Amino acid sequence: MKIAMIGTGYVGLTTGACFANLGNDVMCVDVDESKIATLKEGKVPFFEPGLSEMVSQNIEQGRLTFTTNAAPAIQAAEIIFIAVGTPSDEDGRADVQYVLNVAEEIGKAMNGFKVIVIKSTVPLGTSRKVETLIKQHQQQPHEFEIASNPEFLREGEAINDFMIPDRIVIGTETERAKNLLTHLYKPLERPNRPILSTNIESAVMIKYASNAMLSARISFMNELAHLCEKVGADIKDVATGMGYDTRIGPRFLQAGAGYGGSCFPKDVRALAATLQDYGCNNVLMQAIENVNIKQKESIVPKLKEELPSLQGKRIAIWGLAFKPKTDDMREATSLTVIPALLKEGASVIGFDPEAEEIAKKLMPTIEYAPNPYEAAMDADAIVLLTEWDVFRQIDLQRVKNSMKQPILLDGRNIYDPAELQKLGFRYQSIGR
Ligand SMILES: NC(=O)c1ccc[n+]([C@@H]2O[C@H](COP(=O)([O-])OP(=O)(O)OC[C@H]3O[C@@H](n4cnc5c(N)ncnc54)[C@H](O)[C@@H]3O)[C@@H](O)[C@H]2O)c1
Repeated sequence: MKIAMIGTGYVGLTTGACFANLGNDVMCVDVDESKIATLKEGKVPFFEPGLSEMVSQNIEQGRLTFTTNAAPAIQAAEIIFIAVGTPSDEDGRADVQYVLNVAEEIGKAMNGFKVIVIKSTVPLGTSRKVETLIKQHQQQPHEFEIASNPEFLREGEAINDFMIPDRIVIGTETERAKNLLTHLYKPLERPNRPILSTNIESAVMIKYASNAMLSARISFMNELAHLCEKVGADIKDVATGMGYDTRIGPRFLQAGAGYGGSCFPKDVRALAATLQDYGCNNVLMQAIENVNIKQKESIVPKLKEELPSLQGKRIAIWGLAFKPKTDDMREATSLTVIPALLKEGASVIGFDPEAEEIAKKLMPTIEYAPNPYEAAMDADAIVLLTEWDVFRQIDLQRVKNSMKQPILLDGRNIYDPAELQKLGFRYQSIGR
């Protein structure tokens, strides 16, 4: 099939490359000229395992192309995906301006029947706005259908999540759009991985509800982690015990230094705002967000239990990205912790296997180390914020020997407290 993917970020590029890999012709469009220039050379402008290889193979085989010029892509396509960003505005609502800009462009360039699929996470009611704008900007009337096809991929696992999804959700209003999209996604359907067909509103709600539920589980455990610390319980044991309950299940019950990323925080805020807009109670959504903010803010006070004055102290931060296997820094916990450390007069040296380049743009005044050992050298404390594999079996004896003070605050509970104490660390973790 002929596909235009408008917005070539984490979602648009992964989805575009995967559709091309399934044999479709995909034109990826972005307004960012440098991004498109990089992609035309077969390079991926961010870190996502396996994506580079898939992009270059599909470019070579002529199924994947890149452009900054939306009109030809729109005209050539039967199906147009909108995959631009929907960041939070200052009230926490999803800012849909980029989606609406694309709707205008689609209207202007349209030359025949198209299915326009909103893949970006957008609030209820956006599909109507997109429809109206397209109609307003059409040079002459052309039929089109709007669909909602929310994306559930996780950065760091994006290709697998696209190719082996838990489910595919297609929200449509007509059989024609439903059939076209079902045909497009057919190769990914399996008996336990269905294509769910709903109306547009339900598709939108499934996306927000899923992200809010996952965030809720994390905030739930983070809130309880504080109580565990006070009463001598271990939140990891609590999570294990809860997880065996088949009604609960084990996933997303890890306490830690708070969630970040491009989705959970903004989607929870957006859902809270939508509930408010429709006159519904949103206390739960607000609580999920507030617990998360407090969790990120609790890291420096926790460190101060070991190091009451941070003035002049050298603190190593292990992990800057919002989670492992990505260089995405959006709403990363490091962006809360590092400024708070600097404010206390500490000096900070950061290490991240992939996110250093992006981190340098956001935090140009801190030092960066090429590996975790150099970050730890002469440090008064290490604060681990992202559970990259490289930290799991690191030579902790060597790390400790090179530090000024053997303090390690494990914000992701990856180490065994007894082992770390045996090695001579003053070890802190979350809820244990
Ligand atoms: N990142 C994720 O893990 C993830 C997962 C599921 C859903 N989502 C949702 O998918 C959407 C996209 O997220 P992302 O992380 O890929 O964003 P992103 O910021 O990585 O990419 C968005 C891209 O859209 C481009 N763009 C903006 N306006 C444009 C226009 N008029 N024409 C063409 N391109 C334009 C930007 O230059 C940018 O490259 C968001 O709504 C997000 O909530 C993201």
